Amino acid sequence: MSPISVAIDGPAGAGKSTVAKLVAERLNFLYIDTGAMYRAVAYLCNKEQVNCSDGAAVSHLLSNHDFRFEEGHDMNLQVYIDGEDVTTHLRNPGVSKLVSLVAALPEVRSRLTEWQRAFAVKHSVVMDGRDIGTVVLPHATVKVFLTANVEERARRRLKEYQEQGFDVSLGELIQSMAERDRLDSEREVAPLSIADDAVKIDSTGKTINGVVEEILRLVENAHVR
Ligand code: CDP
Repeated sequence: MSPISVAIDGPAGAGKSTVAKLVAERLNFLYIDTGAMYRAVAYLCNKEQVNCSDGAAVSHLLSNHDFRFEEGHDMNLQVYIDGEDVTTHLRNPGVSKLVSLVAALPEVRSRLTEWQRAFAVKHSVVMDGRDIGTVVLPHATVKVFLTANVEERARRRLKEYQEQGFDVSLGELIQSMAERDRLDSEREVAPLSIADDAVKIDSTGKTINGVVEEILRLVENAHVR
């Protein structure tokens, strides 16, 4: 049987990764966090002091380092650069600030899109990101566009940061998330947008489990058809 794919797109902090992981777990599919891939590139640029907006320099960096992605514990995508596990650094506020810049580079997007598609050829996947239903997997079995209002998204992210010991204010977060959404939506290549055949789910005020069940029903229905 050919692999099944569930694409979950949406803006920052909409709950994509939490929901996608649970859906993948319930279906026994591989969970692919494509944001972690873009974050890995931003992390390396920062470490090597390469300008995140310089396409040629970032492309050179990608060609000269070995990136490896594996499913780790808790279904998180474990990211290795030149053999070093960098996973825990990827969600730092510093990386979050830079990531939309590298994500706007066509050279980076085409390379990462290739890596992402390779996973979906071999495995049934739940993949989350910004362009999965529109560009990476245009024939995905189920496409979901997950949103929530910006205050709720920022509150969720604040909780995550506080748990990790980062000191950020809610106001700062609302501002930085709105800015990232703007950059992601306005970029020329593969902007954040809703695929024509995606189901839009607004998670504001909904429980995680409620959203997971809604997506599982969509997968079941698509499969029966
Ligand atoms: O978790 P959060 O929604 O904050 O972000 P993420 O999924 O980790 O993605 C981080 C950034 O990577 C996004 O703001 C986008 O700039 C970029 N990204 C992208 O352009 N395309 C994807 N498929 C996934 C992420």
